[in-house]
Amino acid sequence: MQTTELPVHEIPALSGNNAPVHQEDLFEDLPVIGEMPRDFAGLYVRNGPNAFFAPTWRYHAYDGDGMLHAVRFDHGRVSYRNRWVRTEALSEEQAAGRTLWKGLKEPMRKGRPDQPMKNTSNTDVKYHAGRLITMWYRSGMPYALDPMTLETLGPADYDGALDRISAHSRPDEHTGELLWFDYALQAPYMRYGVIGPDRRARHAIEVPLPGPNLPHDMAVTEHYTILHDFPLRLDLEAMAAGRYKVRFHPDEPSRFAVVPRYGQASDIRWFTARPSYMLHVVNAWEEGDEVVMVGTPYRMHAGEDGRIDARRLERTINQRQRDFLLYEWRFDLRTGTTRERVIDDVLNTEFPVINGAYQGRPNRWSYHIVFPPGGREEPRFPGLVKYDLRTGGYIAFSAGPQYFYNEPGFAPRDEPRSEDDGYLVTLAWNPADMRSEIQVFDCLGARLAEGPVARVPLPRRVPNGFHATYVSQKTLDRWK
Ligand SMILES: [Fe+2]
Repeated sequence: MQTTELPVHEIPALSGNNAPVHQEDLFEDLPVIGEMPRDFAGLYVRNGPNAFFAPTWRYHAYDGDGMLHAVRFDHGRVSYRNRWVRTEALSEEQAAGRTLWKGLKEPMRKGRPDQPMKNTSNTDVKYHAGRLITMWYRSGMPYALDPMTLETLGPADYDGALDRISAHSRPDEHTGELLWFDYALQAPYMRYGVIGPDRRARHAIEVPLPGPNLPHDMAVTEHYTILHDFPLRLDLEAMAAGRYKVRFHPDEPSRFAVVPRYGQASDIRWFTARPSYMLHVVNAWEEGDEVVMVGTPYRMHAGEDGRIDARRLERTINQRQRDFLLYEWRFDLRTGTTRERVIDDVLNTEFPVINGAYQGRPNRWSYHIVFPPGGREEPRFPGLVKYDLRTGGYIAFSAGPQYFYNEPGFAPRDEPRSEDDGYLVTLAWNPADMRSEIQVFDCLGARLAEGPVARVPLPRRVPNGFHATYVSQKTLDRWK
């Protein structure tokens, strides 16, 4: 087995398995350790930063150009391929033969006040209407790519309807729609809209907010969309002085906009809840008069005065530390009130995924990456957990200190008999062997705890990255 020499670099965001790879490869019919299940087919794709040119600025881990790593499963056969997302910014730099933008820590690009930050499209990837769509967490033009070849087809502007969307806009695999939102420093601070399965814009509204905020994700049910307004905001004074700083306002509530999928701004019902901040939603659904949302917000800690320690939360967020719990909100459409509860505060988990067929529907199981408690030391992503959202119970697998897991995808069996009848597929980095591999876990019942049923060592490492998606062959074919 060939492994790759790791480049030595003084910047942690570019060292070890954070260093970019420079090859675009296709590896077919990869040898499997264990037994690769033959009863599923589909595509697992992961996005992440992978700088094309060596950075010449104070590099931040979020700065690299987007690169997709795709694993195709076909009834026991496995192949891998990777390609850069050919954004307009990257194409411009390739034509110039050098970097033209800087990054989060030194944002302004001279001569381009319209685009001071580079839209790397490096954050999330989803499947919509026959194409992969890559998205950027700061809101930017999404890009469309061919799911077979990973070739960039161009900006996904849907006939000029979109100029920017947030990284966690969500396709609905039941209807083929793409539900999107964006956020910006200038008004309109937030917009929400729907693109049809025919790639035509169907709906768009402005979501009225008192000022700019920092939403990261949205939630969808069968009939409603839930948009987030947490009391975490950019420090605008620091911003004016050229520094990027977030401020948490512990005396203000969290606010959630519940809006019918095709509702107008006047149809929005605002619900308030305890002050919080959350990156990722697990799922949402309707139950009687209630809209239920489950997610993994940051854990709040009390200061010496017994109130929320806002500075501690800001530090946790700024330093990208991992300190999360599993939480549920229930919005009562009849009374306008919110009920909320901790589902689990024992484990520290994030990057939640579910069986995609259950998005927007009541579901029981979610799968997360589990971190060491506190999460204050060097980043470690050593395990996976299957949660029972009803009871807070869980089944977990940890590979010990040697593995670093990526956001997984849930791959249903060809003819699934239950929500958890399928596999968890993911990429894992083993620093001891300096090797990346694909791993497949059986999700049914308690089998996750038994470890991977199949491992596929890769001929070259896959750098650590951000978000991933799994698209079953059925869904690929249905919305082609
Ligand atoms: Fe995210």
